[in-house]
Amino acid sequence: MSVHSPPEIYVGLMSGTSLDGVDAIVADFAAAMPRVLGSAHVEFDAPLRATLLRLAAAGSDEIDTAHAVGLTLADLYAHAAQAAIAAAGVTAVAVRAIGCHGQTVRHRPERGYTVQLGNAAALAEHTGIAVVADFRAADLAAGGQGAPLAPGFHAAFMAHARLERVVLNLGGIANITRLAAGQPVIGFDCGPANILLDAWTQRHLGEPYDRDGNWARSGRVDPALLARLLDDPYFSHPPPKSTGRERFNLHWLEQRLEAPGRIAAADVQATLLALTARTVAQAIAAHCGESGELVVCGGGARNDALMQALAADCAGWRVRSSAELGLPPEAIEPLAFAWLARERLAGRPGNLPAVTGARGPRVLGAVHLPPPTPS
Ligand SMILES: Nc1ncnc2c1ncn2[C@@H]1O[C@H](COP(=O)(O)OP(=O)(O)O)[C@@H](O)[C@H]1O
Ligand SMILES: [Mg+2]
Repeated sequence: MSVHSPPEIYVGLMSGTSLDGVDAIVADFAAAMPRVLGSAHVEFDAPLRATLLRLAAAGSDEIDTAHAVGLTLADLYAHAAQAAIAAAGVTAVAVRAIGCHGQTVRHRPERGYTVQLGNAAALAEHTGIAVVADFRAADLAAGGQGAPLAPGFHAAFMAHARLERVVLNLGGIANITRLAAGQPVIGFDCGPANILLDAWTQRHLGEPYDRDGNWARSGRVDPALLARLLDDPYFSHPPPKSTGRERFNLHWLEQRLEAPGRIAAADVQATLLALTARTVAQAIAAHCGESGELVVCGGGARNDALMQALAADCAGWRVRSSAELGLPPEAIEPLAFAWLARERLAGRPGNLPAVTGARGPRVLGAVHLPPPTPS
């Protein structure tokens, strides 16, 4: 008779700055490596996306909208969690907790706050499962950026015994985590990734994103525009640092385009793609070793043109999709929040103070217990 540890199943939910939808994962943490049992992706519909985009644009004061959309998101999150649980072939009672990141509509670490919408109490009520949410608040309260939080997960599960590994998440924003044996973990947001690529594609092609980077590939990088984009002081600012739509948006791009229409739209797209690859390469050159593996996750790992540009710009680094390590690119962020929920229930800290700049390790997240089961 073989001895198996009892299952330790968690759900992770992640809906990021790309505003494409929510990714849900069900994973068993009983073994040394997390095992993905099932997953689901639920798209945001156009009105919800428009509301979130409007809320994410700085300057609005939409308290009622924010709380109403929080309840809408709780419905959607419950739907995504239940779909992932069904795909996993487990039951809700087997799930210890849902780790729910929530939807970021404002990220102002310099002012000490960040706002993620999604009513965690309603999510616990709908699913009958404990929900851990509001992961960033304790880190911000301790003087940190509250971001990025995935590096703890990367360090726990994605390090290599000998090779230096850099984990690159290409979501709306690009962030890197440096994992080198015997050295402290480094992690920060490098700059924009899909936020700008998607916005420019939506404006000019009316498509949600530039599939496989084919449109960018049809254009030519404009060196003068690239230089103006790279001139933003964020890129050379030392970490800890994190950013979002408040800074990197179409307005930011337009201010650097000189005369609108002078550069062909496809060339702007090629230049935006080059910007992401170049800023990642610069971040690695400034803060990591000379060679190793660059493991790419997030939806941007599916952008072949971007993967090629990264390989060209990051000399010495073997660029691989996280899928090659057995972790699908879109699984990593929701897995990180499933894991953070587990750390919260165990009373263990989830932040890496060297990454976020917090005064010390903090147990992250607020727990919303499910309603009691009727006896
Ligand atoms: N085949 C593809 N080609 C190019 N880009 C892609 C592809 N698949 C996904 N993406 C990009 O990935 C984004 C979603 O990435 P995701 O990791 O969910 O970001 P976030 O965490 O910010 O929500 C999409 O908006 C799109 O830009
Ligand atoms: Mg997403």
